[in-house]
Amino acid sequence: MERLDKILAGTGRWSRKEVRELAKLGRVEVNGQVVRRPDDKFDRTAMEVRVDGEPVSPEPYYYLMLHKPAGLLSVTEDPRQPTVLSLLPPHLRRVGLFPVGRLDKDTEGLLLLTNNGPLGHRLLSPGRHVDKVYFTRVEGQLDQADAAAFQAGMLLEDGLQCLPAELEVLEDPSTGLVTLREGKYHQVKRMLAARGKPVRYLKRLSMGPLTLDPDLAPGAWRPLTEAELAALEGL
Ligand code: URA
Repeated sequence: MERLDKILAGTGRWSRKEVRELAKLGRVEVNGQVVRRPDDKFDRTAMEVRVDGEPVSPEPYYYLMLHKPAGLLSVTEDPRQPTVLSLLPPHLRRVGLFPVGRLDKDTEGLLLLTNNGPLGHRLLSPGRHVDKVYFTRVEGQLDQADAAAFQAGMLLEDGLQCLPAELEVLEDPSTGLVTLREGKYHQVKRMLAARGKPVRYLKRLSMGPLTLDPDLAPGAWRPLTEAELAALEGL
């Protein structure tokens, strides 16, 4: 269920503020009833909306897999810096897409974008512990002591108690695969910095059942497949 103003603003025809005004003036009807409160909630897939008597189709839900390049912010808008939405064609910038979880500006890799708020928030909820796998290159060499510290659940200097995580040291020991079940601010970088091995490169390879499509170059995106969406909905 989502707010009426969000659903209608998602069509790109009105801003949320304009929707609020239209609603107040009694110009919006849902399922045959005038709705004056823009925060009333509806299921966009099962509602009939009219504005001034004209039917309006709420935008469907979109689910995009994006290969985030370095240099863009994972937010929907920023006054100064380009965001990941700048990679999308104009019509997809107006449907209310947001990134499910953030990657740092300099981090690359898998980002899920959707306008399905309930699904996005469910995936992000702290109790859910969706596995996220990152490839990293650090300054120095990773070793089994680092892996053991990750496994034990690190306590960072600033008081953050991390859940147990995995670190697989790769053949080139300056590289590794990190698996986290949570997503605190700069978490991989903070954990590796605490081991004295600052991150030089970071790329997210997977998130729960979603794996970055190797055919997507940095900056490219594609809709999720039916199977990927079903896997996410089943989480
Ligand atoms: N951990 C980080 O430090 N940065 C990211 O972008 C993601 C996880």
